[in-house]
Amino acid sequence: MDNVKKIVWTNKLSIGNPVVDYDHNKLLDIFNNLVELIENKKNDQEFAKILSKMTDYSLNHFKKEEEYMRKMSYPLLDEHKSYHRDYIYKVAMFNVDLSNNNPPDPKEITAFLEEWWTNHILIHDNKYEKYKNKTQSVSTY
Ligand SMILES: [Fe+2]
Repeated sequence: MDNVKKIVWTNKLSIGNPVVDYDHNKLLDIFNNLVELIENKKNDQEFAKILSKMTDYSLNHFKKEEEYMRKMSYPLLDEHKSYHRDYIYKVAMFNVDLSNNNPPDPKEITAFLEEWWTNHILIHDNKYEKYKNKTQSVSTY
């Protein structure tokens, strides 16, 4: 499996909401840390530590995001929530596997994260922000 590359933040990744963008930026920073660990051939323990950090940050981000979508009465809230749940389940399984004798290839994990977060930001988060701009003004995130 080819090495996953770091994700460089560009305006393309902005959904036009500075508070959400801040979280996404932070999450991608942690993702880039994981990629660096692989590049520097660091051990799995360190990788697992940073992956848990990313999980904590993700949970917090999802909570805020779900509240934000609830406030704007976003019609796709349940669907979006189930994406979040699937992610949490998948990453929790990676965390369990990493502490087993037969850990998964960290490259497999970063490949999943890269795809998931790119879709999350470019497709799903962009959608609710567009909905919000079209329908109302919710002042706080
Ligand atoms: Fe998000």
